Amino acid sequence: MTSPDVRWPRPAGPLVLRPATDSDLDEVLRWRNRPEVTRWLLRTEVDPDAFRRVWRERAVDPTDHAAVALLGDRVVGTASLQVVDAMGQMHVDPGPWRGAEAELGYLVDPSHAGRGFATAIAGAMLDLAFGELGVHRVTAGCFADNSASWRVMEKLGMRREQHGVQDSWHAELGWVDGYTYAMLAEEWQRSRRTATGEGAA
Ligand SMILES: CC(C)(COP(=O)(O)OP(=O)(O)OC[C@H]1O[C@@H](n2cnc3c(N)ncnc32)[C@H](O)[C@@H]1OP(=O)(O)O)[C@@H](O)C(=O)NCCC(=O)NCCS
Repeated sequence: MTSPDVRWPRPAGPLVLRPATDSDLDEVLRWRNRPEVTRWLLRTEVDPDAFRRVWRERAVDPTDHAAVALLGDRVVGTASLQVVDAMGQMHVDPGPWRGAEAELGYLVDPSHAGRGFATAIAGAMLDLAFGELGVHRVTAGCFADNSASWRVMEKLGMRREQHGVQDSWHAELGWVDGYTYAMLAEEWQRSRRTATGEGAA
């Protein structure tokens, strides 16, 4: 949502991320249901009206930080970051586990795939998660066969923490393997310091 804690727009490499307008969503809908996009998604083909309604609802949900990615004035991707509770002992409530994790997601227009855009989008969302939102940990899941998606996470230094054997159901393939990746706040800060050369002798 457009929370006062979160600065929009925010840069993502050559792209700019910001909350979606109605016309942005119209642009997303031009590619959102293409088979290259839906092949490895859980929410496969979307109904345009339902899709717009869901984005409107997300815009007022304080735990949901969804954005579109623009290259100039073209919408070439989307990003999502949902803040959730971590596992935690409930007798301490509110405890550090409340709102301590965020789940990351990203989509790129297939006509712009392979140009590093998803990596730029996901990197900017990790900055948001570990920066303004101050979460402890970010996770993301994908089908094991979605190599482009897990490559994005590995390029950003996320760790494959789970290889679920046949834990995911795919409409064409049946039961297939899934991966869960994660990263901690301190790991992201360390990787930023290394990337900027900060702390180098
Ligand atoms: C997955 C997706 C987000 C990647 O977007 P992208 O902008 O092409 O990603 P990037 O260019 O930042 O990086 C992709 C990486 O995967 C690699 N890759 C792409 N297709 C691949 C394939 N079929 N097999 C193996 N690696 C592949 C690229 O070479 C690149 O890695 P490299 O930089 O080491 O060469 C995009 O393809 C997409 O939106 N797919 C449909 C929706 C989806 O699956 N979203 C993720 C849900 S978990």
